[in-house]
Amino acid sequence: PLKVILDGDPGLDDAVAWLLALASPEVEVLGITVTHGNVGLPLTVHNAGVTLALAGAAGEGVPYFAGAQEPLVRDLVTAAAVHGDSGLPAGGLPQPVRAPEPEHATAFIIRTVREHPHAVTLLASGPLTNLALAFRLAPELPELVKEVVWMGGSTTGGNATPAAEFNVLADPHAAQIVFESGVPLRMVGLNVTMQCIADPDRIAALRGLGNRAGAVSSELLTFYAGVYKKRYGLSGGALHDPLAAAAVIRPDLLDWQDMRVDIDVQEGLNFGRTVCDLHGSSQARKNARVAVGVRDAAFFALLLERLGRLP
Ligand code: BDR
Ligand code: CA
Repeated sequence: PLKVILDGDPGLDDAVAWLLALASPEVEVLGITVTHGNVGLPLTVHNAGVTLALAGAAGEGVPYFAGAQEPLVRDLVTAAAVHGDSGLPAGGLPQPVRAPEPEHATAFIIRTVREHPHAVTLLASGPLTNLALAFRLAPELPELVKEVVWMGGSTTGGNATPAAEFNVLADPHAAQIVFESGVPLRMVGLNVTMQCIADPDRIAALRGLGNRAGAVSSELLTFYAGVYKKRYGLSGGALHDPLAAAAVIRPDLLDWQDMRVDIDVQEGLNFGRTVCDLHGSSQARKNARVAVGVRDAAFFALLLERLGRLP
């Protein structure tokens, strides 16, 4: 199986994404590194422990690590309005099976990538602060990482502002460091994730699995559907982070295009925008493989089947 470190900010769709990864035999989760993002770090770390507990045997022995509690340069922004004050708006959640490790998330990323050169995939579903810190502390790292697969950005507009997707806006400077690092990078942005909606039928299918993972996911996605209905008039929430996890497990579920992507870090209208050179007008080196299409029904079938394997 593919060696993977999960990095994110749970956050309800991060939690569902991690359950998908933990339930998937194609993937060996070496550890989970946590960042600020949807809610503050103390909560995202707690929620990582809860998510591992939800995975049952698949989460046993997987260590988790607290990382950056703030973005590199800009002020902290969170998205509690989308994910609830706790980040995991569901009842009856298990307690974390164990405490986070004492090692810093960034140190774990560096150590693990060095131990397995060219073999570790970093699946990132939040602001890129932990990855940027690791790349700054260990400049050889981008060359040693197999691949970064990231939910973030968009080839079109944003969601946190008209121009910026949340995971970029929450730390644009970190995103810039990662995009300029030379690391092999796949970007799963809003242009594809907004096509993958957890509507009432899908939520019912998750509940119908009859297990705890399905019940909790359906409860989280029901909360999320309320937010998406109000905000965007959609029938459910977008499965952003689970789609990025699926991109690691089954890259063929998406269509990809290599292109130049730059991050706008000028404070202004486009602060945090991923400027995607869709039509090849830039002379700069192509630095990202960008998802430009998705087979949504096959993706959801995978998610459902995998969550069904959990307790
Ligand atoms: C991204 O922002 C967060 O709210 C979600 O978890 C996802 O990673 C979508 O813009
Ligand atoms: Ca996230």
